[in-house]
Amino acid sequence: MSKNINYKNAVAITRDIHWVGFYDKEAHLYCNPYLLIDDKDVVFFDPGSIPHFPTIMRKVIDLVNPLEISVIVAHHQDPDVCGNLAVVEDIVDRDDLRIVAHTKAIRLIRHYGLKSEFYPVEKNDNKLTLQSGRVLQFINTPYLHSPGAIVTYDRKTRTLFSSDIFGAMAKDWSLFAGDNFIDSMDIFHREYMPSRQILQHCMEELDKFEIDRILPQHGSVLEGTQVRKAIEHLKTLPCGLDLIQD
Ligand SMILES: [Fe+2]
Ligand SMILES: [Fe+2]
Repeated sequence: MSKNINYKNAVAITRDIHWVGFYDKEAHLYCNPYLLIDDKDVVFFDPGSIPHFPTIMRKVIDLVNPLEISVIVAHHQDPDVCGNLAVVEDIVDRDDLRIVAHTKAIRLIRHYGLKSEFYPVEKNDNKLTLQSGRVLQFINTPYLHSPGAIVTYDRKTRTLFSSDIFGAMAKDWSLFAGDNFIDSMDIFHREYMPSRQILQHCMEELDKFEIDRILPQHGSVLEGTQVRKAIEHLKTLPCGLDLIQD
């Protein structure tokens, strides 16, 4: 897919969802934070690491006043997801900022030294209703790749923010997946996901959702027919323990 994209700026994925990542040419593991700009809420997904913070925040500020960010979703506790949370919350500077995560992740995220209120998904019916009425639904994806890992489904745009799941590692990166996305997705899942059985269980959960696009925290955005192709493929991919046993 050839899309002429200037990665120095934020990139619109839908009218209200934007990629605000750092295009790190030296890395094979690209990190993708996303900003969802709703009517009265701005939701920041997986804000990222300290080294990426200046670039990410400049792109955020190009789109919104940081004071408008009302919700941060931290899909799990990793430093590439949460490393910059303490500085992000300083810039946002809102007493009512909420950090959405699973309790099993919150126990670890606390160690980043945050002051904002946490919103534990499993104690809130696994959903968050924004002021506009838009519903974000959260799905626990245990052990992919941590016990409290979650993903977010935005019902309005039928978008799945999938965190590390559907992530990919590749030398040549593009924000939108090309025809050969499966190979770089496999490399990441073989190394970071625990077993085919666990991955398959998650894919069968995702079968229940109508998904138009997947926005992973690594690798490339999947759209259209790529979505179903990726889900079916990961149902049978040996990874983690499967490969150790072999
Ligand atoms: Fe991770
Ligand atoms: Fe990650």
